[in-house]
Amino acid sequence: PSSTALLKWAQAASRGFAAASAGNPGRKVAVLGAAGGIGQPLSMLMKMNSQVSSLSLYDIAGTPGVAADVSHINTKAQTRGYDKDGLAEALRGCDLVIIPAGVPRKPGMTRDDLFKINAGIVRDLVEAVGKHCPGAVLNIISNPVNSTVPIAAEQLKKMGVYDKRKIMGVTTLDVVRAKTFYAEKNGLDVSAVDVPVVGGHAGVTILPLFSQATPKATMSAEVLDALTKRTQDGGTEVVQAKAGKGSATLSMAYAAALFADACLRGLNGHPVVECTYVESTVTDAPYFASKVKLSTEGVDKVHDLGPLSDYEKDGLKAMMPELLASIEKGVQFVKGA
Ligand code: NAI
Repeated sequence: PSSTALLKWAQAASRGFAAASAGNPGRKVAVLGAAGGIGQPLSMLMKMNSQVSSLSLYDIAGTPGVAADVSHINTKAQTRGYDKDGLAEALRGCDLVIIPAGVPRKPGMTRDDLFKINAGIVRDLVEAVGKHCPGAVLNIISNPVNSTVPIAAEQLKKMGVYDKRKIMGVTTLDVVRAKTFYAEKNGLDVSAVDVPVVGGHAGVTILPLFSQATPKATMSAEVLDALTKRTQDGGTEVVQAKAGKGSATLSMAYAAALFADACLRGLNGHPVVECTYVESTVTDAPYFASKVKLSTEGVDKVHDLGPLSDYEKDGLKAMMPELLASIEKGVQFVKGA
């Protein structure tokens, strides 16, 4: 969806959504980690999505307040909060489960430093998904995404309910950032800009393909390098600015809401192409983010990378050792246990 999608939702919300929701079956969506920095604004944005008829807000702390608050918004999604004991009920019948549960980075930390805590959180939540709504599409936000997506996949494989079409790591914020920085640098209308971002979701594994950006703009090698690095380090820019109070939450909630909306459109028979981190044969890495067609069963087609510049070819080569190691670490976390 374009970045005007939110504006459209807001306009539709003020009209009571009657027109926007026509013809869509209501979808049940759960947000796990709903009371967190990402979870709260994301819950609000999902409440504003006309494709959602039922919204489960789950967290281990603080959900009653968030659910009461969000539920007063006059849109159709029936909103309920669930605490620790309510996970099964929160998930039952879900079409889409969005997971932003876990700890965020502090200054000086890499996403991989979060592995120790978040790996177990994601594994346990995905186990519950496998039990209570095994066919649901999963949007994984919890970092390190490069590892938490393989963790989710291995957990579902272990339970015999894995479907590679259903698991997506949310890398939309990298796309959102690349679009913003590219438009800003080249004086373009940001709403008309597109930039694919491929690879993974950490440091050098994030590879914006500015050679495929539209509309086209001519940039010097220095500017291109600076834009690439800024996209790769966008998360760290926010972590430093927040100075110990967490990482991106508002731009992340926006990005997650855009991606969830794309997944719901796909489920509802209106296929959308978005960059996302999925099981992949596009490169040597078993999980990789590239353009993906989202349709009625989730991932429909994983697109290859298209023509790369020499700079991007180098970037692709450079990311592989880290990406492969992060994937293996995730796989072993479940398999080796
Ligand atoms: P936060 O600490 O504000 O919120 C996390 C929430 O998860 C808290 O409300 C906490 O109670 C909850 N939680 C912890 N364990 C849980 C469990 N077992 N079940 C359910 N809920 C649980 O953190 P924030 O800022 O919302 O970030 C969440 C995650 O998202 C972090 O891992 C962060 O690194 C990641 N993130 C991912 C991005 C991406 O582009 N994919 C971008 C920014 C952050």
